[in-house]
Amino acid sequence: MHSITASALAAALISSTYLLSVQATSCNSTTPCPASAPCCSEFGFCGSDDFCLGGCNPLASHDVNSCRPNPICDSATHAFTDNSRILSNATFFDGNATEYDWVVDKGNIMNTDSSGGELALLLTEENGGTRISSTRYVHYGKITATLKTGRWGGVVTAFITMSDIKDEIDWEFPGAATTEGQTNFFWQGVIPQQTQGDTTKDISDTFANYHDYTIDWQPDSLTWSVDGNAVRTIKASDFQSNGINQFPNTPSRIQLSVWPAGIDSMPQGTVQWAGGMINWDDPDYKSAGHFYALVKQVKVECNEANILNGTMQADTTGYVYGANASSQQPGVAYTNGSTLINGASPMMGMQARGLKVAGVIAATLIGTAFAL
Ligand SMILES: *[C@@H]1O[C@H](CO)[C@@H](O)[C@H](O)[C@H]1NC(C)=O
Ligand SMILES: *[C@@H]1O[C@H](CO)[C@@H](O)[C@H](O)[C@H]1NC(C)=O
Ligand SMILES: *[C@@H]1O[C@H](CO)[C@@H](O)[C@H](O)[C@H]1NC(C)=O
Ligand SMILES: *[C@@H]1O[C@H](CO)[C@@H](O)[C@H](O)[C@H]1NC(C)=O
Ligand SMILES: *[C@@H]1O[C@H](CO)[C@@H](O)[C@H](O)[C@H]1NC(C)=O
Ligand SMILES: *[C@@H]1O[C@H](CO)[C@@H](O)[C@H](O)[C@H]1NC(C)=O
Repeated sequence: MHSITASALAAALISSTYLLSVQATSCNSTTPCPASAPCCSEFGFCGSDDFCLGGCNPLASHDVNSCRPNPICDSATHAFTDNSRILSNATFFDGNATEYDWVVDKGNIMNTDSSGGELALLLTEENGGTRISSTRYVHYGKITATLKTGRWGGVVTAFITMSDIKDEIDWEFPGAATTEGQTNFFWQGVIPQQTQGDTTKDISDTFANYHDYTIDWQPDSLTWSVDGNAVRTIKASDFQSNGINQFPNTPSRIQLSVWPAGIDSMPQGTVQWAGGMINWDDPDYKSAGHFYALVKQVKVECNEANILNGTMQADTTGYVYGANASSQQPGVAYTNGSTLINGASPMMGMQARGLKVAGVIAATLIGTAFAL
């Protein structure tokens, strides 16, 4: 039924800052970017600098190495007692994931202190919704967000993972249905004929109560949990098509958002899915001046230690797509190259190690030149 993805908010981002100062050359994997504007942004436009950071699609960029490496996963518990680890405008991010854990891609955040500090993601009629992204990527692992959703028709709260080639795993909370959460996943943005969406019912008031929502993303399976109880598990092997595993398998950012699905510009099906048109005269909106979702904590447990059993080299900085990466086989490798846009050229001084093809360690290429 639900045939849109949380990237509907991403689509709305296109109209914002990104295009203002840039000549908009569009890009996709068949028409990649020119050398003069090598990086294909999340939104499908060529550019440099921040176009080469989070969301940069290596398979639609000039070269598979045009994008900066994806900053490596770091197991951590992110509490939102204040917003000091969040860069309030992603445009100013330079790729240093030690400096910030999150960037605001769009919209506005606040910190409330109703229970020791929590992040509020705001939706107003003017801002068109808010999305934050983690500065680091996860390539398999367990992510738990402790959050309170909105409770208003047409307003969607989302906690997802999204890769640069649009592998996506979702927890979404549409509209006024405050006892339900929806789980979903996408492989390279492909919406299968039979949608993978599923609804988890009987969650106690998701607006009033904090719950722990978990995405446990493993190479061979995916489990969604609420408060530690698994509510849905799928196996990667059940999503084979012509020998290709149509299962999320590329490094992904964690994204949290509140976005307007119940507005005129959205398709009718989306509006219905989200519980109808947004009522901007809602007393909650009138009194607060915004709709919102609250995030108390995000816990990230990276798989790196499991996969490499502690043998990952200490100077590993990030993930890159392999030299022969294609949409059919997006091999992912570790690198020690700079993740910064003003850092050294990704072509220089970089070493790939631990090539993972579709999530499985195919070879450990420590010290092997593999034409990055
Ligand atoms: C890729 O972009 C080119 C140029 O904009 C366009 O003509 C083509 O239809 C696009 N291909 C796909 C698959 O979207
Ligand atoms: C982020 O900064 C850019 C560049 O100054 C500006 O155009 C844009 O409006 C800012 N975005 C937000 C959400 O404040
Ligand atoms: C990244 O940020 C950290 C923390 O602010 C800082 O110590 C470090 O020098 C920065 N790295 C670079 C390469 O600028
Ligand atoms: C990981 O390392 C530990 C300690 O060296 C060893 O006992 C264990 O068997 C290793 N596990 C795997 C899966 O290699
Ligand atoms: C890439 O493809 C070439 C040609 O098929 C092959 O020789 C090379 O080993 C491949 N490299 C990697 C890293 O898989
Ligand atoms: C990456 O590792 C290689 C091999 O150890 C080394 O020569 C190179 O200087 C390192 N690059 C960076 C940016 O640290």
